Amino acid sequence: MIKKLRGMEDIFPGGKLDSRKFLKLADSCREVAEKYGFHYIETPILEETILFKRSVGESSDIVNKEMYHFLDRGGRDICLRPEGTAGVVRSFIENRLDRQGKVYRFWYFGPMFRYERPQKGRYRQFHQFGVESFGEGSVYEDIQTIGMAKEILEKLEIPYKLKINSLGCSQCAPTYRQKLLQFLESHREELCPDCQRRIETNPIRTLDCKNPSCQQILENAPKLQENLCSSCHSEFTQLKKGLEQLEIPFEVDSHLVRGLDYYTKTTFEFIGVGEGVGSQNAIVGGGRYDKLVEYLGGKPTPAVGFAIGIERILELLSPQKEREGVYLGALLEEGVPKLLEWAQKMRNNGEKVTINFQIKSLKSHLKSADKGGFKKVAIIGEEELKNDTIFEKEL
Ligand code: HAM
Repeated sequence: MIKKLRGMEDIFPGGKLDSRKFLKLADSCREVAEKYGFHYIETPILEETILFKRSVGESSDIVNKEMYHFLDRGGRDICLRPEGTAGVVRSFIENRLDRQGKVYRFWYFGPMFRYERPQKGRYRQFHQFGVESFGEGSVYEDIQTIGMAKEILEKLEIPYKLKINSLGCSQCAPTYRQKLLQFLESHREELCPDCQRRIETNPIRTLDCKNPSCQQILENAPKLQENLCSSCHSEFTQLKKGLEQLEIPFEVDSHLVRGLDYYTKTTFEFIGVGEGVGSQNAIVGGGRYDKLVEYLGGKPTPAVGFAIGIERILELLSPQKEREGVYLGALLEEGVPKLLEWAQKMRNNGEKVTINFQIKSLKSHLKSADKGGFKKVAIIGEEELKNDTIFEKEL
């Protein structure tokens, strides 16, 4: 038997990842995004590897260890996208939308690929629902964007905890980096090998090292919030105030630096809480990336967005209990030709109809319909055939 690849899942009705829940989840996200004025964008799953190296960052785990990259038949270095933002930014620039002086708000939904060690909530092919907003530099856009993610989670009845942080801008981030570097250098020997490497490649990433002894050392590291320039500081204050006004509870986490290099200013993560949440508990991740469009060759354009991990949410949704649709069957051979006719009538009335073409007793039909999770049973027997009617029963 040929099996699926490790870390990849089939999504089908009744499967570990139920396809009905999967589609409903996508619909719920889409509905909320459209309500906020976001429009659908679809970009290719394959992109040039250099796009992610430049945007997500050469020193990030994603680029370093997790990309599915290879040479295509033309010798081009390409990869399966590990995330959605870079492709949307590439498209935004390539289609010259950066030149229009307008605000663009996009949503997308699709598979992403990361060669990580699979575990609960962590797959090698997974889906993200993401949003990206371009051209609005106001911190109120950050507040609205976070509010939208919160609305999606509440609609799905997913309990969460929101963490926020500010990484500062091109004014204050380099100064902070210098201070942090000094601190790290003075503790170099005590840090794990990964963090020692990060001192050279990307010092700020030491802040979210999972190693408990590094965490303890970094407790005393200079704090981002205490090193923001006055404009970043007042924006961060505004952000907190705005979230309070919208009654969105949050917690400031000065170590929330995120695993992708393109962020500036606001970063945020929603963490799933309660039963069924494993160690992979980040369900939404996002932030502002005001420098990325320019960095990839476009006109300077502020931007902010987030992505929701669909599989992680699916694992938290309670199993589908609601009965749905009509089960249609016949008790005798002569009734079978009538089934399609009746089904058509019902479908025209907007009902979801599933036909069982096998002749069975009433009892046996009722049993199948019950097992199949249907809401209603419709049966054609001798009487019904004679009178051109149908027998209906709610389950
Ligand atoms: P990210 O934090 O790397 O951000 O991913 C966003 C979400 O995708 C995570 O919070 C998680 O729920 C889900 N996710 C990530 N990796 C896996 C995996 N291996 N298996 C299952 N789920 C996973 C980004 O990707 C950014 N592009 C988000 C963004 C958009 N920032 C600005 N705009």
